[in-house]
Amino acid sequence: MRATILGLGYVGLVTAAGLAEREHDVVGVDVDERRVRTLANGIVPIHEPGLQSLVESGLASGRLRFTTDAQAAVSAAQIVIVAVGTHDGHGGWQTRTMVDTLAGIVEHMADDATLVIRSTLPPEFVARLEIIVSQLRADVGRRPIPVLLNPEFTREGRAVRDFLEPDRVVIGVAIDPGGRGVNALTRLYRGVQAPVLRMSAIEACLSKLGANLFLATKISFANEMALLADAFGADVTEVTRGMSYDTRIGGAFLRAGIGFGGSCLPNQVTMTVRAARAVGIEMPLIAAVGEVNARQRSMFVARIASLVGDLRQARVALLGLAFKPDTDDLRDAPSLDIARELIEAGATVVAYDPVPSAMEHAAALVPGLRLAADVRNVLLGADAAGIVTEWPAFREIAWSDVRHLMRRAIVVDGRNALDPAAVAAADFIYASFGRDVVAHAPRPAAEPIVPDVGVVSLPLSAVPD
Ligand code: UGA
Repeated sequence: MRATILGLGYVGLVTAAGLAEREHDVVGVDVDERRVRTLANGIVPIHEPGLQSLVESGLASGRLRFTTDAQAAVSAAQIVIVAVGTHDGHGGWQTRTMVDTLAGIVEHMADDATLVIRSTLPPEFVARLEIIVSQLRADVGRRPIPVLLNPEFTREGRAVRDFLEPDRVVIGVAIDPGGRGVNALTRLYRGVQAPVLRMSAIEACLSKLGANLFLATKISFANEMALLADAFGADVTEVTRGMSYDTRIGGAFLRAGIGFGGSCLPNQVTMTVRAARAVGIEMPLIAAVGEVNARQRSMFVARIASLVGDLRQARVALLGLAFKPDTDDLRDAPSLDIARELIEAGATVVAYDPVPSAMEHAAALVPGLRLAADVRNVLLGADAAGIVTEWPAFREIAWSDVRHLMRRAIVVDGRNALDPAAVAAADFIYASFGRDVVAHAPRPAAEPIVPDVGVVSLPLSAVPD
């Protein structure tokens, strides 16, 4: 099929390259001329495993092209997919880009074409979408076109695999009399081994939001369990392992630590609470999920401070900057808040991330942040090392080999990524989230252990040492 994708960010680019891989004839459109030129030259400007080779093979086969000419690209397409951004960059939604994009393309779409929205939409916009598109067609005297939602569920770092082998394909129907649009979109996904779920547009919108909110809830839940584990001397990874074999719960997204970052989970938590409030609904659970997440970042800083003492005299090495491994994305990355908080407290903060673009970007975002070229250099003279992103290379650090580089042997593991026994064996003080069984011994019970039945006299031999 001939498909045109508007917006070549993470979502749009993966969709365009993935559809070309599935042998569709794809045109990717973006307003950013430089981005389009770079992509047309076969260079992918983001770090996403597998995407570079997918783009290269799409270009080589001629099935993938890039342009800034939206009008020409949409008029030739059977399916037009919109994947422009809907975040305002400050924890809120913005639909201006979506509205402007629609205004530029809808009148040029062929009468037998289908419009598909892949961007995550604010719920209140879904009803407006239908009206906007119908009006834009009516204004130029053209026939109505089907309008569908097709939310993406791809994770950064695994986006190519998630696109090519999705768990499910959700199709939300906004306008589709006769089902022509659903047929076209189903054809586009032909060969995908996944259930295709058809529902209303608002149900599709809320499925997407609901999935992310639930994942965020699981993470904050695990972080609450980590507090309990620390307080009572348990290892939270054992606790969640024990929970995970229950098929109703599962083990995914129960890793405790500094919490979730990225362009999706944190934003969608705050945006949902705000959107709900705007229609008179309170969402205390989702609001708490966000609060717990923000607390984790500060707890990481507090943990470092409690171990190094005066932060003003301390040099802290941050290992990892991206919000998770296999990406260079720094949007709402915990590293940024953590670095800012440490610098504000007077610490010297040096960071290293395996992806150079993440480091350059972080230096621009956090004044005073210093960068190091590799693991050894970031640890040089440090009073504490903080694991912020669980890149595989950090799991492989032989701590006994780097011990002499550091001023003090302290590791605070924000991702519970290291083997505590191995780090402790290298003579380090090790702290993490919900696994500090030794560091945080169980507190003495508040209640007397011997039932209060008056004075109990024990025989001398029974008195413990
Ligand atoms: C998320 C969803 O997982 C995707 O399904 C969705 O399509 C995407 O948002 C989107 O809306 O576009 P993504 O933002 O790429 O994907 O990242 P996740 O893999 O969900 O990770 C989010 C954050 O949670 C990361 O900072 C990660 O380190 C953290 N995390 C994850 C934990 O702290 N604990 C866990 O157990 C799992």
